[in-house]
Amino acid sequence: MNRWWPPSGRTLPEATLPEARAADLLAWYDRHHRSMPWRVPPGSGEQPDPYRVWLSEVMLQQTTVAAVRDYFRRFTARWPTVADLAAAADAEVMAEWAGLGYYARARNLLKCARAVAADHGGRFPDSRAALLSLPGIGPYTAAAVAAIAFGRPETVVDGNVERVRARLHLVTTPLPQAKPEFIALAARLTPRDRPGDYAQAVMDLGATICTPRNPACGICPWSAPCKALDAGLQAELPRKAPKAEKPLRRGTLWLAFRPDGAVLLEERPQSGLLGGMAGFPTSGWDGTALPAPLQAEWHAAGEVRHTFTHFHLALTVLTATATATPERGTFTTGLRPSTLPSVMRKAWDLAHGAAP
Ligand code: ADE
Repeated sequence: MNRWWPPSGRTLPEATLPEARAADLLAWYDRHHRSMPWRVPPGSGEQPDPYRVWLSEVMLQQTTVAAVRDYFRRFTARWPTVADLAAAADAEVMAEWAGLGYYARARNLLKCARAVAADHGGRFPDSRAALLSLPGIGPYTAAAVAAIAFGRPETVVDGNVERVRARLHLVTTPLPQAKPEFIALAARLTPRDRPGDYAQAVMDLGATICTPRNPACGICPWSAPCKALDAGLQAELPRKAPKAEKPLRRGTLWLAFRPDGAVLLEERPQSGLLGGMAGFPTSGWDGTALPAPLQAEWHAAGEVRHTFTHFHLALTVLTATATATPERGTFTTGLRPSTLPSVMRKAWDLAHGAAP
């Protein structure tokens, strides 16, 4: 795509590249869209269910489509409508969310479902502004649900969309400073026709063709208008400001078993990491000392590591057979490890001899 003119490193003026047309992308989406359990196929005439669209968008924040599929299927099988979810017990929902991470999302999910059930007769409001007023719905989710579920011409910008925009328009400002620029550029191109399909088409393009490394420009429906391709810079965009190194924090996790097999669990405080989740008692992770939850002969089982958004965590796992009454937590029988957050499940696996 590099042209003989202008010489070295300069691109042609904007006018010489064709417009990026929504119609070209939609035609590509009609043939190549990814099938997902919350989507209706383009052209099927079916109306998407706002509950399923909202649930999928909340789950997909910070998480991949592959990781979300099974969670989405389990949630919708167990709670088929927003009213069902609103009526669920907090602990059941948190247990079903376990492993998806970012647990504040699950708490807000429930708050939102209850607000829709109590204040909106069990129907999601159909505009971006009204959706934004619901708990836990931010600008991204409000725009995505308004566009995908209700056909509103809202602009939806996630990481995939940012990458596509950076390349299409040759935005060299690094992220996160470039975010407002991406939103403005995306808003300029959002069509009034099929805005939900269009939003998901840009996401699919970013996930399957305009990928971070080795984008498949040869089969891209937007290769002709792509300024980064024209300049040979497609693989270098978007630029990103260097990330701060994550510090390593340390702590202790206590796994106490009663002779009858019951295990000591504690609900974590609502605010803070893993907030509201049940797990094994731990010390503070920031150097604060918290004593063992009960007197016992503790044995070191090893160490588990887990990475959170802002730090790495190394927890020394201590196990004991315990008969004393705990000072915190509750002995529980019939624990299903799948209901634990990932770091807790790692400790469980370590204590049970599974590969860490
Ligand atoms: N990421 C977030 N929302 C999505 C959607 N609706 N389709 C594909 N990827 C997504």
